[in-house]
Amino acid sequence: MKGTSSAPTEGTDGAEESGEATETAETIEAIEALDADGEKLFPVSSRCIVVQEAPTSAPMNKMNVLRMEQEFALLVSAKQKGENPRMKLFLDTANVRHVAEIAAWGVLDGVTTNPSLVAKEGKAFKATVLEMCKHVPCVSAQVTETDANGMIKQGEEYSSWNKHVVVKVPMTTEGLKALKRFRSKGIKTNTTLVFSVSQAILAAKAGANIISPFIGRLDDASEDGMGLIADIMEVWHRYDFDCEVLVASTRHPRHIVEAALLGAHICTVPYEVFAKLPMHPLTDVGLKKFLEDWKKTNQ
Ligand code: E4P
Repeated sequence: MKGTSSAPTEGTDGAEESGEATETAETIEAIEALDADGEKLFPVSSRCIVVQEAPTSAPMNKMNVLRMEQEFALLVSAKQKGENPRMKLFLDTANVRHVAEIAAWGVLDGVTTNPSLVAKEGKAFKATVLEMCKHVPCVSAQVTETDANGMIKQGEEYSSWNKHVVVKVPMTTEGLKALKRFRSKGIKTNTTLVFSVSQAILAAKAGANIISPFIGRLDDASEDGMGLIADIMEVWHRYDFDCEVLVASTRHPRHIVEAALLGAHICTVPYEVFAKLPMHPLTDVGLKKFLEDWKKTNQ
């Protein structure tokens, strides 16, 4: 197929690398075969470049190739099921000014707060949450009680503040009991501090509307945060959990791109990272040149 190569990459086991590239080419061909109406469903060409142009100094990583194939399979499966999800972007903050600023761009779907973020701002919690609810339809407010009854009481109070409030519940066995109760009462929940697939499954089964795996903190501990998202998304495609996967603890723009490639439903992003998302140096250079040239026309 055009654009793919099974040539071994220098510095790696040739036979093994050759096999991986061929498998990837087959995956790409399978996806192209799905493209019945002649319209490209997936950015196949960019994938081909990854296979063909792996720099010789940086051998193609086996895990990346496998993850790439996994991403393809998930996208194909979602498309075959007729799913057309829209990725949601949340701001990870307790700063109302930042929420107002990004919401004005027209791209913000929600906010996640946590006790540490609230402490950093030093403002009243309820007033902060209510102010944020004016800007976005989904604001996570975390309970601080640790037993199920305490969480339920606190969560019921939070949810009475505004219909945009989502009760954030920590991933503990007491939290699971509270989730079940919140679901039965129609109170929306977000399970926080998820670090494994088993925790994700339990939270979804207990009735969480959202689960938040923390990828940056896993990376900080020398684990593979985005690998956890890939695994959770694969499980989610096999079953019918009524629960969105929110990629939390993101650290840089690439995390958002990778979360999107894996089909994660939501990504929560710190303000400093969100502010980088619209930027590209070539956009600045290009606009400067357009405006200079326009001036020359004297119109
Ligand atoms: C998510 O809801 C959390 O508030 C957040 O993403 C934690 O991120 P951190 O690891 O940067 O504190």
